[in-house]
Amino acid sequence: MCAHIVSVTRRIPRIGVDLLREQPDIELRVHDADAPPTPEEWEALLTGADGVLSLLSETYSGAILDAHPSIRVLSNFGVGYDNIDVAAASERGVAVCNTPGVLTAATAEIAWSLIMAAARRLPEAMDLVKADKWGSWGPNMMLGQPIVGATIGIVGYGRIGQEVANMARGFGMRVLAWDRSPQTKPQDGVEFVEFDDLLSTADFVSVHVPLSAETTHLIDQQAFSKMKPNAILVNTARGPVVDQDALVEALTSGTIWAAGLDVTTPEPLPASHPLVQMHNCVVLPHIGSATITARDAMSSLAARNLIAVLRGEMPEHIVNPSVFEHIHPEGS
Ligand code: GLV
Repeated sequence: MCAHIVSVTRRIPRIGVDLLREQPDIELRVHDADAPPTPEEWEALLTGADGVLSLLSETYSGAILDAHPSIRVLSNFGVGYDNIDVAAASERGVAVCNTPGVLTAATAEIAWSLIMAAARRLPEAMDLVKADKWGSWGPNMMLGQPIVGATIGIVGYGRIGQEVANMARGFGMRVLAWDRSPQTKPQDGVEFVEFDDLLSTADFVSVHVPLSAETTHLIDQQAFSKMKPNAILVNTARGPVVDQDALVEALTSGTIWAAGLDVTTPEPLPASHPLVQMHNCVVLPHIGSATITARDAMSSLAARNLIAVLRGEMPEHIVNPSVFEHIHPEGS
C-alpha cells in the first residue's frame, strides 16, 4: 500500500493524532510542540507531504502550494480559513477543509463572556481587588451597562451568530441581525435589519462574519460614528474585521462605551498596545473555541476530513467542494 505522508503542524488534542496514527496508509509527522514551527521546521513538515493538518497561524499562499506540489489537502484546525488562499488552492486542485459546528457553542460562550466582562467591568473590578484598592462599598463604584432587556445586534448570522442570538433570549434581549447573504433563514424573535440600523440601535454589537476582502474593516470609523455612546463592541471573529485605530479613537473619545475582543491585529497583540492598556477594553488571547470538548472535536474532525480526502471520499467539511471531483474523479 502506498503511504500518504501527513504533517500535523502543532501539538493538537490526542484524539486526532491517534486517529491519523491508526491509519495503515498514513505516515505521520507531528510538530509536537505548543509553539508554532520555525520557518525551517514548517518547510520540513510541508516537503513531500500529501496532507497537512494546518493551523490558522500559518499562511498558505499559492506560492507555498507551488513550492510543495505534493500537497493535496489542507485540513484546517478551525472554522475560519482566511489563512489559506482558497482560490489558489482550488486552482491547484488542493482541497481545503475546516471544522465548523463543533466549536459553535464554545465561541458563543466567549462572545457572552466578553459581553458580560465589558458591560460589568469585570477586569477593572478584579484589578481593584488585586491592587488592594477595594474601599468601602459605594453607590457609584464600578457602574456598568445593563444586559437584561438591552438590544444586541448580531453582525453575521452564521452558526456562531445564531448561537449568540439564542443565548440572548435568556437575557430577555431584543435581537437584531444583519448578514451579507440575504437568504439567511429568519429565526423566531430575531429582527433582520440594515447594517446602519443595527449599528445605530444596538447596545451590544457582536461581530461574527468571516474575514474576507469585503469584511476587512467592516467596523470602521464611520461605523463607530453611527453607534450609541453606551454601545459595546464585541469581536470574536477575526481582528481585521475591525479597524483597530478607529476603535482606539472611538474608545478614547467616548464615541462608544467599551469593547471586548477575542481577536486582534496582530496576534499576539503586544501588552503595550493601547487596546490592552485601556480600562474600557477587554482583550482575550483568541480563546473562542478553547474548551476541552470543542478542541477534542476539532482535532477529530480535522483528522477525519484529511483522511477522507486522501482516501478519495467526500470529507464532512470541505470549503472548495468543486476541487474534490477534480482531484478524485473516481471518488464517491
Ligand atoms: C478560530 O478562530 C477558528 O476559526 O476556529
